[in-house]
Amino acid sequence: MEIVKTIDEVRKTIKSWKREGHSIGFVPTMGYLHEGHQSLIRRAAGQNSRVVVSIFVNPMQFGPAEDFNSYPRDLEHDRALCEAAGAHLIFHPDASEMYQPDFCTFVDMNSLTRGLCGRSRPGHFRGVCTVVNKLFNIVGADRAYFGQKDAQQLAVIRRMARDLNLDIEIIGCPIIREDDGLAKSSRNTYLSPQERSAALILSKSLVKGRELLEQGERSADKIISVITENINTEHMARIDYIEVVDALSMEKADSIDRPVLVALAVFIGKTRLIDNFVFQPG
Ligand code: PAJ
Repeated sequence: MEIVKTIDEVRKTIKSWKREGHSIGFVPTMGYLHEGHQSLIRRAAGQNSRVVVSIFVNPMQFGPAEDFNSYPRDLEHDRALCEAAGAHLIFHPDASEMYQPDFCTFVDMNSLTRGLCGRSRPGHFRGVCTVVNKLFNIVGADRAYFGQKDAQQLAVIRRMARDLNLDIEIIGCPIIREDDGLAKSSRNTYLSPQERSAALILSKSLVKGRELLEQGERSADKIISVITENINTEHMARIDYIEVVDALSMEKADSIDRPVLVALAVFIGKTRLIDNFVFQPG
């Protein structure tokens, strides 16, 4: 497995793979990989004869007060995890390779990014859409793999691919969790041992919400208020948002009469964590 830093090198390798008749799976990441990322790489390796992983902490998707500089990085660890999961190539560009000093072209999206993380992180999805579009153009993969962990991101990428006629299949993969339920995330590394146990409140309160839905509750307000009460039992937690939205359009849902996404973002100390589940009424 090779690590390359330039767009030319990626293009050259992929061109020769395509000449040999290989199919290409692509997993975009920001590195500091864990089993969540590995599940995407494994899925890609099961469906394609060559797998490319990008590792790029994309400055454009971080707000000025966010954690771009402190975002964890460990390329040697990432290399081992990629190799173990069946990747063939890592694309690890510098920011200067991706963005010329006079870069001024962006991919932006309206409706799907109005709520949830789009509201809390203005400009975030513009950065995500722009970099993912660039990465798609560089890699030219047949299929790309995204986690349901970032449910709004997955919906946004699917819509971008549809709206802009991108010739790539977008494949969503389930959330991988720690044994105790905490969704795996590169940002979990910021948590102190005390915060790590407090962080369990995210998945626990979502389980409560799901139980209510399974018992037949169909009011989004009721689900949100039960989840809110639950989160508020943890004094280290501060709610950023708790929302119930249509699973495709990401528009606010009042009553649960179609597939919905129940999603939340909660600060544990200074660390902002997200989690969610999708519910389909029977
Ligand atoms: P990053 O946070 O590194 O995540 C890369 C991919 O791994 C995303 O599709 C994310 O949803 C998935 N992922 C993360 N944790 C997961 C988990 N616990 N279970 C399943 N999948 C998980 O998302 C990004 O990077 C960036 O925004 C990116 C798309 C690379 C654009 O910069």
